[in-house]
Amino acid sequence: MENQRDPSGKTPGQGPLLSLINKIKALVKTIFSSSFKIGLVYFAAGLVPALIIGWLFFPALLYSKQTQPMNFNHALHMDPEIVSEIQGDTETERCLYCHSFRNDGTFTGIPEIGVCSECHKDDDFPLGESEEEELLINEYVTNKREIPWLSYSRQPDCVYFSHIAHIELGKLECTTCHGNRGKNQVLPAYEKNRISGYSRNIWGKKISGLKKDTWDSMKMDDCAACHKEKGHEENNACFTCHK
Ligand code: HEC
Ligand code: HEC
Ligand code: HEC
Ligand code: HEC
Ligand code: HEC
Repeated sequence: MENQRDPSGKTPGQGPLLSLINKIKALVKTIFSSSFKIGLVYFAAGLVPALIIGWLFFPALLYSKQTQPMNFNHALHMDPEIVSEIQGDTETERCLYCHSFRNDGTFTGIPEIGVCSECHKDDDFPLGESEEEELLINEYVTNKREIPWLSYSRQPDCVYFSHIAHIELGKLECTTCHGNRGKNQVLPAYEKNRISGYSRNIWGKKISGLKKDTWDSMKMDDCAACHKEKGHEENNACFTCHK
């Protein structure tokens, strides 16, 4: 081979490997040069606040707040001094007064207006003096119209969930999955995820996904984790939860 000068100015015999090493050396030099370090500091100074702002405002953008048609006071209805008709040995039994099972074992979910009108019959004899009860009777009971409640825990249609299996076979309490919802005086904010369309209760309040209590979120992994913990891993096949 002829002894030519390389156009890049390198001495012949210097292979591509050596030139690569030289390039890396030069790069390392720039990284440790002060100007690059200053650049890095500015970059971090911009990135960190951007992340913090994103962390704070992302939920506000991702979720839209919606209001329930009226308030419902669980604590008042569960107080035996006020509502003596609702009885039972356990708290779960008392919840089942309104959230009952049909004869075929399916769950009624949020009670229909017929359940309310057993007690809130008509506007001539209201049980109390509150405006909320007036609205209930005039707007819904008298017109036999269902209250369009927004459901906090409703899963996407592809998910199959049976309450009777969890409550009667699994012996679980409502609190395990719903927290203190049965003790609320005022309905919590309903936040709808703009992308998936379902409520924030499923994904959890924390954007980080970390949870403290079993009811903080009810995603696929949450269902599966409890099945594993309770020794029911046989239910962690796709077609058990999805039908
Ligand atoms: C077993 C009887 C019973 C049933 C069933 C019942 N309620 Fe009541 N409700 C009461 C009593 C008693 C009060 C207390 C009235 C008062 O003193 O204001 C009350 C109060 C209320 C009030 C007014 C208090 C407030 O400000 O929250 C509303 C609204 C209400 N109920 C909604 C409902 C709805 C909706 C249903 C159906 C899902 C329902 N109730 C089912 C007995 C019942
Ligand atoms: C007097 C009837 C009544 C009784 C008794 C009652 N609830 Fe409710 N429950 C309702 C009504 C009406 C709603 C719809 C409004 C709301 O979200 O609170 C509801 C909603 C709920 C929801 C929200 C479901 C969802 O995803 O939107 C949960 C959870 C719940 N109830 C749990 C309980 C528990 C636990 C108890 C017993 C401690 C209980 N309830 C007793 C009437 C009742
Ligand atoms: C193992 C967890 C678990 C337990 C225990 C549990 N739930 Fe639920 N609950 C859910 C899930 C998941 C959904 C959503 C179901 C769906 O979308 O089909 C739900 C939905 C509901 C709803 C709303 C139904 C609707 O149509 O939107 C009510 C009301 C409710 N549960 C009340 C109760 C009550 C009362 C108890 C106790 C007697 C109870 N749940 C126990 C997990 C549970
Ligand atoms: C806190 C614990 C717990 C959570 C959370 C839970 N499960 Fe379960 N699940 C159980 C237990 C325990 C059983 C077994 C009941 C039995 O057969 O004794 C079960 C059984 C089942 C079964 C089989 C019974 C049937 O209906 O055919 C399905 C399906 C199921 N779970 C779906 C779900 C889904 C979907 C979710 C989440 C939305 C969920 N589970 C969340 C504890 C849980
Ligand atoms: C223990 C119950 C359970 C099992 C087992 C399970 N899933 Fe799910 N899956 C859910 C629940 C609850 C959701 C809704 C909440 C979520 O997105 O995490 C879901 C959501 C999904 C979605 C998103 C659907 C949507 O509309 O957002 C897909 C896709 C899916 N599952 C596929 C699978 C596949 C594939 C398997 C088997 C490898 C599987 N799942 C096993 C409970 C389960």
